[in-house]
Amino acid sequence: MSAIDYQAIFNEIINDLDEIDEVGEVATYIPELANVDPNKLGMHLTTVTNQHFAYGDADEAFSIQSIAKVWSLTLALKHLGADTWQRVGVEPSGTAFNSLVQLEYEMGIPRNPFINAGAIVVCDILVSCLKNPKEDLLDFIRTSSGIPSIEYCPVIAESEVKTGHRNYALAHMMKGFGNIHNDVDCVLDLYFSLCSIKLTCKQLAQAFLFLGAGGVNPATQQQVITPKRTKRINSIMQMCGFYDEAGEFAFKVGLPGKSGVGGGIVAVHPGKYCIAVFSPRLNASGNSVKAMKVLEALTSKTELSIF
Ligand code: DON
Repeated sequence: MSAIDYQAIFNEIINDLDEIDEVGEVATYIPELANVDPNKLGMHLTTVTNQHFAYGDADEAFSIQSIAKVWSLTLALKHLGADTWQRVGVEPSGTAFNSLVQLEYEMGIPRNPFINAGAIVVCDILVSCLKNPKEDLLDFIRTSSGIPSIEYCPVIAESEVKTGHRNYALAHMMKGFGNIHNDVDCVLDLYFSLCSIKLTCKQLAQAFLFLGAGGVNPATQQQVITPKRTKRINSIMQMCGFYDEAGEFAFKVGLPGKSGVGGGIVAVHPGKYCIAVFSPRLNASGNSVKAMKVLEALTSKTELSIF
């Protein structure tokens, strides 16, 4: 039995949430994402000692979107190492995830690997480093997570191709600055495929538990990445995982985390657990309103965060 009864804490959090009005809107700029039931709510916490705590729609698969950018960064670091930081920065952007403004006056070098521009550069690195980029990235995602059934979702990827005008603009601007080395369509094909992956909260908590366990996924015992790089990925999640709301998340939750416009948030407490929360209604920054509230309540009630 865990020292902390997370299940009891989940129940308390849910009771408190009942009193909060449903606010926020489901993402519609990617048409396929508009089909989700806005009232879904799931959460799953997995400890580094393999204890599981879940609530609600924890086994419902949803589009994880930008959460998947943690994998592309991890794989780029494994291939290109510290040279990755010649192409993308490690600073918070303070701008929206799909903003073009900063990129122009910072000469095509994105602030960090989690805004869209940064993730597109990371995909360009992977296209250069991998023999079969889409297959090799998926293979890494399957083995590092210990979930061999993970697939790209072609329907969502296609929906993004049709409406991804800002991503095309970002990629072409960076190509103009010399920071995209491959064909833009080929790079964006990898980027959209990565964002299209669907997982459940339970699977997400397992997939990113390596970030809470010094780079080793406790479910597979595989060393996904070194402890030093684990520290770096966690710190970038802490500073940049929520775009122009990264400060707010650090202030209220106090854990490294990463959000996606599908309504998911993953957060990691190093040495303790990984938790995934899913609730599709988003605030203006593209982060799940309820998932943020749940995580704030979790670290407040347990009185445990990284700070
Ligand atoms: O490129 C996009 O806009 C989406 N595929 C991903 C955006 C996203 O999840 C940002 N997250 N909050």
